[in-house]
Amino acid sequence: MDNVIDFINVNRDRYVDELKTLLAIPSVSALPEHKADVRRCAEWCGDEMRRIGLQNVRLFETPGNPIVYGDWLGASGAPTILFYGHYDVQPVDPLNLWESPPFEATVRDGEIYARGAADDKGQVFMHFKAVEAYMKQNGRLPVNIKIILEGEEEVGSENLDDFIRAHKGELQSDVVVISDSGMFARGVPSICYGLRGLVYFQIDLRGSSTDLHSGSFGGAVANPAFVLCQMIAQMKDRSGRIKIPGFYDDVKPLLDEERQAWASLPFNEKKYKKDFGIPKLLGETGYTTLERTWARPTFEVNGLLSGFTGEGAKTVLPAVAMAKVSMRLVPNQDPNKIADLFQKYVEDIAPKTVGLKITRMHGGKPWMTSYDNPYVQAAGRAIEKGFGRAPIFTREGGSIPVVSTFQEELGLPSVLFGVGLPDENAHAPNEKLDLSNFHNGIIASAYLYDEIGRG
Ligand code: BES
Ligand code: MN
Ligand code: MN
Repeated sequence: MDNVIDFINVNRDRYVDELKTLLAIPSVSALPEHKADVRRCAEWCGDEMRRIGLQNVRLFETPGNPIVYGDWLGASGAPTILFYGHYDVQPVDPLNLWESPPFEATVRDGEIYARGAADDKGQVFMHFKAVEAYMKQNGRLPVNIKIILEGEEEVGSENLDDFIRAHKGELQSDVVVISDSGMFARGVPSICYGLRGLVYFQIDLRGSSTDLHSGSFGGAVANPAFVLCQMIAQMKDRSGRIKIPGFYDDVKPLLDEERQAWASLPFNEKKYKKDFGIPKLLGETGYTTLERTWARPTFEVNGLLSGFTGEGAKTVLPAVAMAKVSMRLVPNQDPNKIADLFQKYVEDIAPKTVGLKITRMHGGKPWMTSYDNPYVQAAGRAIEKGFGRAPIFTREGGSIPVVSTFQEELGLPSVLFGVGLPDENAHAPNEKLDLSNFHNGIIASAYLYDEIGRG
């Protein structure tokens, strides 16, 4: 074990250079113009997996982007880890707000800046380097490992469930390990035991066949932008509760012990507001900020588009208005059921003055596990060795759709050990990853394989 850790310490700088190569590939899954880059990234990951000593490395084609698979199954008698990560990244817009180009990774003040640095390439790469250290030093791992990397996580993992169902036998393992979440705060390593789910919609309203002169027609014709705002305003009441009938029926209430545990976490509301430039916090009455983001469902407007938005003024009555909206779900809400309730509610509140089109987009189920399972405990010991401090247990507001699939289809528990920091700008301009967390994360990953390998 010591020789593995030594190797990791000695190669610290090389890892950063290699990570830069991975971060240079613009594998943006949401944009068709990056299709070839996404594939190139899958191939790069496959090549890297071969380089570090994994076997049976191949790309599985899907109707969308390829899934990269590789394994090492030489630790007979030891448990098998199924490692999951994603090699796709979010779009980079608005580009002008980046302080260095998103696909030319740049190190400043101990952080590496690039799209995908934290979410999720940097975190996947930690595990690659832990595997490499074992293979280079010992020629073997203390545990069996199967790795699957997905290229469509950021667009809803549309093809992954089918892949998992079709390869149930080959994917048999003992535990899933994922590094695609965050640490609670700098210096506070964390294991995440719950994620929110998601349903996402686009709403299109049409008020007329073409834009109209707002003087000639205004007052006699419904304005779809206004109607859309009225409809959105009917989604929540004044206490922040979502008004869709039946929306809360399956919501699992927060446990008193969770509320107590979270209340004692080092969360500073003043700093939170300051860090993110928020004048005053707002959320559902009766819940704290952590409770609102980790354990309560939400309705959000992700985008709005209508009418004239250029410089200057144009007196126009827009023909159409569009909104992208989504709901984060918590256990035990079911995305399909919530989608139906939402669709019905929108149809009910839409006035006859506009044409309505509702399009359902991607989604995913919420997930939660108990954290007293032996793998979570093993991860706790490994993280303590890597970070010098035992992890705390958190839930998170984000979604990783496949985690519930692993549970339901393969019967596998997941250990979510993430090293992203809350201010690392995932999905935003200037995404970054703290390089000491990256380094400690490699060491913790190495210890994690050792701990799980002991069975
Ligand atoms: N890594 C995130 C999920 C995440 C975020 C976990 C914060 C824990 C804390 C993941 O890449 C992501 O962004 N997921 C999407 C899923 C969606 C497209 C279905 C999300 O949460 O918006
Ligand atoms: Mn991610
Ligand atoms: Mn993401």
